[in-house]
Amino acid sequence: MKTDFIVIGSGIAGLNFALEASKYGKVTLVTKKGVMESNTNYAQGGIAAVLDTHDTLESHFEDTMKAGCYHNCEDGVRYLVREGPKMVKKLLDLGTPFEQKSGVLKLTREGGHSCRRVAYSGDATGRAIDDTLVKAVKKNENISVFEEAVATELLVQDNKCHGMQYLRANKVETIYGKAVILATGGAGQLFKKSTNPEIATADGVALAHRAGAKLEDLEFIQFHPTALNKKGAPTFLVSEAVRGEGGKLKNSEGKRFMHNYHEMQELAPRDIVARAIAKEARKGEVYLDISHEDPELLKTRFPTIYKTLMGYGIDMTQQPIPVLPAAHYMCGGVKVNLKGETSVKNLYAFGEVARTGVHGANRLASNSLLEAIVFSNNILEVVKTLEEEVEEIAVKTQYYKEFEAEPVKREIQEIMWDHVGLIRKEQGLRQAMQKLGEIESKLPEGVNRGLSEAKNMALTGRLIAEAALKRKDSLGCHFRD
Ligand code: FAD
Ligand code: SIN
Repeated sequence: MKTDFIVIGSGIAGLNFALEASKYGKVTLVTKKGVMESNTNYAQGGIAAVLDTHDTLESHFEDTMKAGCYHNCEDGVRYLVREGPKMVKKLLDLGTPFEQKSGVLKLTREGGHSCRRVAYSGDATGRAIDDTLVKAVKKNENISVFEEAVATELLVQDNKCHGMQYLRANKVETIYGKAVILATGGAGQLFKKSTNPEIATADGVALAHRAGAKLEDLEFIQFHPTALNKKGAPTFLVSEAVRGEGGKLKNSEGKRFMHNYHEMQELAPRDIVARAIAKEARKGEVYLDISHEDPELLKTRFPTIYKTLMGYGIDMTQQPIPVLPAAHYMCGGVKVNLKGETSVKNLYAFGEVARTGVHGANRLASNSLLEAIVFSNNILEVVKTLEEEVEEIAVKTQYYKEFEAEPVKREIQEIMWDHVGLIRKEQGLRQAMQKLGEIESKLPEGVNRGLSEAKNMALTGRLIAEAALKRKDSLGCHFRD
């Protein structure tokens, strides 16, 4: 099968790119599960941009650089903040129900931002964006969506990408295109505790690496400070916006502690808050408390969080929420320039899988949805490079019938959590690399969804550990003990 643009992934980056690309040709979008399943769909806090007349591009630029420990690509950050307001307007025009009062966007605050700068839709901003983009994609006759289709290999010859191999209904198929777009999202599932859904198995990084593309900054895995910490409950995210709206962090004695760690206290950049919580947690449980606020206000401002916590017996309007950090976001990834070009011709990457450099060593809150839409919007740069002819190159991989992937995935998650987590030691990193390498070498040849995910997780995990070992000093969310 042939098409013009092959898009892998249906989060904000893939959907937005598909919509833009449909103006220039046929798009085939493949996605692992249902079209709505992605990290995007779970985004809570919102999307950051300069939307208030008192705010400035310079301030958003500076906050992003500061959170990223100035490891960021300056040109990229300038581009990101400049395009931000236009992208929020685009989403509004498409119908995203961002909250407004008298026609003016309401804004919330999150860690590392020096003012209220985050547009939101309750505490389910991602779902609101996803809904809007999916509706537009479904109406578009130039876009075909293949659900339950897993990209398993990129088809590359002489450093040029011609298409991909994917798995659908247990059959290995191929598709060729003029441009292949990785929009496969993050890698949270590499860790035992993560805010990310099951799809986040780092497939894009592994596909790109096997195809010969350059990767960068893999060591910068961001841990979100406040995931629910309750036995028997999932690692559910409790948005940073809860702190933005007045939530306080407390130790097991009910005392606040963030003043001991940073002048911005609860709203310090994420890496600092996450490590502070981990340190306090050595002495006992840590809580996020917003029970001093008006209960009715909390129920309407955070309806998803309120209902989910109630399901686990926690009433956030009356009691503090037990929290701990969990793996949340991959700041590095497939190295791209500001046009989304990887080091392999005709292969592009957008969104969380891509390393544009805008996040530096630690992403500023709510800059991820923004990055994904800003860079995936620049379609003209991709169109300029398209070639007329698509070459069909052969694929040899066979379907591998039966493979019990879950125990392998659990083992990888344990290794990553223990040795490549929030605080890293040289010996642990070496052990992780060795153990992950052993897992990789034992996995059978062939393609099968669980097997492919396990391979991708082991490979990416090993590459993250390797990158973490190379960076001997601590920086941002990479912390060496
Ligand atoms: P995703 O939205 O993750 O989409 C990736 C897509 O690729 C999925 O459809 C997946 O199924 C598909 N895919 C993956 N591998 C394959 C494969 N092999 N074959 C086919 N398809 C594949 N960021 C913010 O800016 N603001 C927030 O408020 C915010 N809150 C968050 C809350 C949570 C709980 C989480 C987990 C993240 C949050 N983030 C937030 C981060 C943000 O949601 C993500 O970084 C962003 O949505 C990534 O978008 P994406 O399009 O790159 O990837
Ligand atoms: C959150 O709502 O806390 C997540 C925001 C983000 O990841 O940027």
